[in-house]
Amino acid sequence: MTLALLVDCDTGIDDAFALTYLALREDVEMAGVVSTGGNVPAAVVHRNNLVLTELLGIDAPVALGADRPLVEPPMFADDTHGPGGLGHAVLPEPTRAEDPRSGAQLWVDLARERPGELVGLVLGPHTNLALALAIEPELPRLLRRLHVMGGAIHHRGNTGPTSEWNIAVDPEAAQRVLAAFASAPRLPVLGALQATESVHVHGEVLERVEQLAGTSGNPVARILADALRFYFEFHESDGFGWSAHVHDPLVAAHAVTGDFASTRPLAVDVELTGTLTRGQTVGDELGRWGREPTVDLLTHVQADAFVEHLLSTLEAGLR
Ligand code: RIB
Ligand code: CA
Repeated sequence: MTLALLVDCDTGIDDAFALTYLALREDVEMAGVVSTGGNVPAAVVHRNNLVLTELLGIDAPVALGADRPLVEPPMFADDTHGPGGLGHAVLPEPTRAEDPRSGAQLWVDLARERPGELVGLVLGPHTNLALALAIEPELPRLLRRLHVMGGAIHHRGNTGPTSEWNIAVDPEAAQRVLAAFASAPRLPVLGALQATESVHVHGEVLERVEQLAGTSGNPVARILADALRFYFEFHESDGFGWSAHVHDPLVAAHAVTGDFASTRPLAVDVELTGTLTRGQTVGDELGRWGREPTVDLLTHVQADAFVEHLLSTLEAGLR
């Protein structure tokens, strides 16, 4: 059975791996892509999404999202992903058309056109999904399911001491999305840092992607290799050694296959007023809030199996 996906991403290096992985899956229909500002400005994300979808043969609509978060001033991660968002990669100019709608409107239109069919996958800040909810409050019931890469539950942050990037960029949007989807027929799946950082990507992975780029001559493989090398350089400079945390593809692979991780229900909310903790995703393990769970949290990641699955998918599809 084919899974119809709308991917909302801040492409970004790991977003590019996720988009490529999804494009190579025969059981995935990329119904739409929303370009959300995050790792780099929305316009740069958009250029990356247009180029990647064109090179990957994805003719889905690609819509530009808002150019800033709901409340926070924009912040970017040039050090992590490079000013162009894809590290050392040199991209051709896109020749394909963008969709003229806003990212929020694309969310709403696709969900209304395909009630109960579309799976949402958010791999960046939640700005445009929150804006889409303001247009169509029924989104949680129109979407088949929502999968999100974001947050850090009882785990250090990667942006602030307690906050993860996708949430920290736009905490108000994340809080609104969690509140709205708490009443969805199926809770959102949340792939937080403790899950995605359990996937250790070391030098041999970079070597395999470099080798794929060299032997295939495939332009997407070359982009991924040049992007990943920059990501390794950043992680090494950030004290993690010659490695990378490749967050988004794990959430994408679980969304499509249901494999590589388990889930457990948990009431999660976003801190908005903490002096030191704004943007933290707080999980209520002991039920102190007396609230129903708001997410299905990814747990027990089968990291090695996932990494091999990702690489073999890329090697088979980009050869
Ligand atoms: O914290 C990791 C997340 O932030 C990933 O989605 C990465 O691409 C950035 O968006
Ligand atoms: Ca991302």
